[in-house]
Amino acid sequence: MSAHGPVLPMTARRAGPLTGVAEVPGDKSISHRSLILGALSVGETRVTGLLEGQDVLDTAAAMRAFGAEVTREEDGTWSIHGVGVGGFAEPDRVIDCGNSGTGVRLIIGAMATSPITATFTGDASLNSRPMGRVTDPLSLLGAQAVGREGGRLPMTIVGARDPIPAHYTVPVPSAQVKSAVLLAGLNAPGQTVVIEREATRDHTERMLAGFGAEIAVEEAEEGRVITLTGQPELAPQTIAVPRDPSSAAFPVCAALIVQGSDVLVPNIGLNPTRAGLFETLREMGADLTYENLREEGGEPVADLRARYSPDLKGIAVPPERAASMIDEYPVLSVVAAFAEGCTEMRGVKELRVKESDRIDAMTRGLRACGVTVEEGEDWWVVEGRGGAVPGGATVESRLDHRIAMSFLVLGLATEAPVTVDDAGPIATSFPIFEPLMAGLGASLTRNNS
Ligand code: S3P
Repeated sequence: MSAHGPVLPMTARRAGPLTGVAEVPGDKSISHRSLILGALSVGETRVTGLLEGQDVLDTAAAMRAFGAEVTREEDGTWSIHGVGVGGFAEPDRVIDCGNSGTGVRLIIGAMATSPITATFTGDASLNSRPMGRVTDPLSLLGAQAVGREGGRLPMTIVGARDPIPAHYTVPVPSAQVKSAVLLAGLNAPGQTVVIEREATRDHTERMLAGFGAEIAVEEAEEGRVITLTGQPELAPQTIAVPRDPSSAAFPVCAALIVQGSDVLVPNIGLNPTRAGLFETLREMGADLTYENLREEGGEPVADLRARYSPDLKGIAVPPERAASMIDEYPVLSVVAAFAEGCTEMRGVKELRVKESDRIDAMTRGLRACGVTVEEGEDWWVVEGRGGAVPGGATVESRLDHRIAMSFLVLGLATEAPVTVDDAGPIATSFPIFEPLMAGLGASLTRNNS
């Protein structure tokens, strides 16, 4: 079974060039946060451009279960009537977050300092991922967690009756952990301080400030020190969700490796905590330009233009850049397979605890397609074939949308087609992937129709 439907094998094969405009959906990280912060504010938050992927729809359903009124209007605008900080009701059913690590970890944070109990579950992928990384710090604020062995879902969280603010240094580079602690800190009296040694995506900090919370960020010797003053009244907002750079990565990378391609991907946020892939591709010699570079809502935004790039060179990706492109390593490894020379990706242990073990999933699939890959606990190296990649294999997507899309991008440029055993999980983050890519000229076929 795929995440939320029947198994969907799909094959990608080499066809004509990819050309045209790729309008990718809204940002997944910002979409989750819009719903959660909307639910925690008093009054109506309105959201346009929300990603309507299954992960985000599951978060919308969860916010309803905690008492917020969440509706979609006919024109695609979402309306959230929030219950205020500390106003979550106790859900009368198990909260199913499907495939979404971001959804479950942020929601656990948001309810952990309310005097309610909730039980969380997910699909086979989510139920195998570590939750101790959020429940450990949340216990400092007074929440209790009872889960399966290894801190896995299904898990029940008993929220704190008398929350206490925390001072916490995040031990792994994770925006989800940072965000869970900050969201919990919202309902604790006094100041909650979160320190991250490496900067990760900062949407929670920016959006909390936008909703009127008192939050300060300071760059100190120990890292980024984030100080949040608890128990604010959050004011509802009108939010236009920008398009997702992590989804833009797929048409961009496909254009770079498919002969003759020229694709425009408009309105992509280039927040420095998210844009590491594009910088890396440019260093590899990709013909990738930022057109119409501008500022929107305080963030750099551009139209990305990607053209076929036959002279790509492998590089050593700086490990300190990992957090800003953590979701993009799978598709980078696909581009690396077409480059001349080796691409080294180091300091990326976090890839082993995503929707799948992404180092293992890509290593096995790329090898099956004729690419030499070496891997270690926190690194992997792809030996580029300088253009000609055999393909001709069926690979596993392992309930992981980004693994599925990465291998379908690969198959658009390999000598023989590449089949993904289940493309169903793509619906979690990029429900229009198939028609969007087909619109550019890609050949993607469903094998069970
Ligand atoms: C996300 C954080 C990242 C990322 C995920 C989205 C977020 O996870 O992989 O897709 O929205 O906070 P980690 O925090 O585990 O690195």
